[in-house]
Amino acid sequence: MVQRRLPRPSELRPLLRPAPFVWDADERRLRRAASIADLRAIARKRTPRAVFDYTDGAADGELSLQRARRAYARVEFSPTVLRDVSEADPSREILGQRASLPFAFAPTGFTRMMHHEGERAVASVAQEVGIPYTLSTMGTTTIEDVAEAAPSARRWFQLYLWRDRGPAKDLVERAAAAGYDTLMLTVDTPVGGARLRDVRNGLTIPPTLSLRTFVDGALHPNWWFNLLTTEPLRFSSLESTYGTVEEMINRVFDPALTMDDVAWLRDAWSGKLVIKGIQSVDDAVRVVDAGADAVLLSNHGGRQLDRAPVPLELVEPTVQALGDRAEVLVDTGVTHGADVLAAVALGARAALVGRAYLYGLMAGGRLGVEKAVTILAGEILRTLQLIGVNSVDELRPSHVRLRTNG
Ligand SMILES: Cc1cc2nc3c(=O)[nH]c(=O)nc-3n(C[C@H](O)[C@H](O)[C@H](O)COP(=O)(O)O)c2cc1C
Repeated sequence: MVQRRLPRPSELRPLLRPAPFVWDADERRLRRAASIADLRAIARKRTPRAVFDYTDGAADGELSLQRARRAYARVEFSPTVLRDVSEADPSREILGQRASLPFAFAPTGFTRMMHHEGERAVASVAQEVGIPYTLSTMGTTTIEDVAEAAPSARRWFQLYLWRDRGPAKDLVERAAAAGYDTLMLTVDTPVGGARLRDVRNGLTIPPTLSLRTFVDGALHPNWWFNLLTTEPLRFSSLESTYGTVEEMINRVFDPALTMDDVAWLRDAWSGKLVIKGIQSVDDAVRVVDAGADAVLLSNHGGRQLDRAPVPLELVEPTVQALGDRAEVLVDTGVTHGADVLAAVALGARAALVGRAYLYGLMAGGRLGVEKAVTILAGEILRTLQLIGVNSVDELRPSHVRLRTNG
């Protein structure tokens, strides 16, 4: 029989210490987020549905994205125990410069639509943390403004190349003049993917006022207030000379691009050149033959071709085919630091993350992006230590097995 007694006040006192109240609402919301999935859940509540779906969604049946994420769920690590991992170091050299973590921020269009702090916030977190930031051609902050907001960040510029070379050449020159050291040419967009959620939500960019958006305004007053009281949303790098959004997208996604265009760009750009959206070993070899310094194995976060190859599964064969001729980067489906390490163990130089930081941005602006990086960084360091290695460079394919039965 257990003997009961009354607790003494001195025993209760330490249990009753309330956590200090956090006055900043964003900070309060973010404090309890422990994973990227938690940030996604906050983002979903904080932004209009059409904006959340534009970010979260993918093309057609969204199989490319689901399969890419499932591939990471198939990863099984092979750890080594009884090694001193007290000094484990998650940094990694990416395209000739050390980054504090083995990932970079992927280019994302319309970033100020997700949160009014937009590209500047993301770039400034990249600067603070010491990882590369990629600005999109479809960005809503200019090349120069991002450089001013994050002058010592490592800045990359993502380019859509279209037939009319003039504007593209201008962008390349502006990126070079503003100190961007890497150009990333996206090649998986001969035409736009079928984003069914956007069609169903009637998404327009910038969002327009309709009965539906009016009702939404009542549900997300902060988002609308911020949209209407800050710099108007527009494609900053493309200026207004390019007509309507549809006309511009049709011009920017050029179905007539070929390997000759990669060679042309190689001549026009003296920094590092990454080709983004490579989905076969043969294409990886061809673009490296044309002068690329790196390939980014990617299916555009599942937003272009549905039923596309799973980028993680292409890593090993691509690394084998390229050897040390070029670096192999990978994206699509990364939602955990362990995903990044699995890709690196299989031979990738680094991973890129898109939605993971956008969920943070939507959940709480710059603070939310910081939180996303803190979560990923914690997961990376802890997983490295639990695998039993002291640095990212020590990871080998033998550390990873892709399970076939869940
Ligand atoms: C909202 C959004 C906008 C994007 N815009 C661009 C873009 O303008 N240019 C580009 O090359 N890729 C774009 N991407 C693709 C990302 O660069 C990256 O390939 C993808 O997000 C990786 O998958 P993840 O979101 O699962 O990390 C976009 C992705 C998202 C989610």
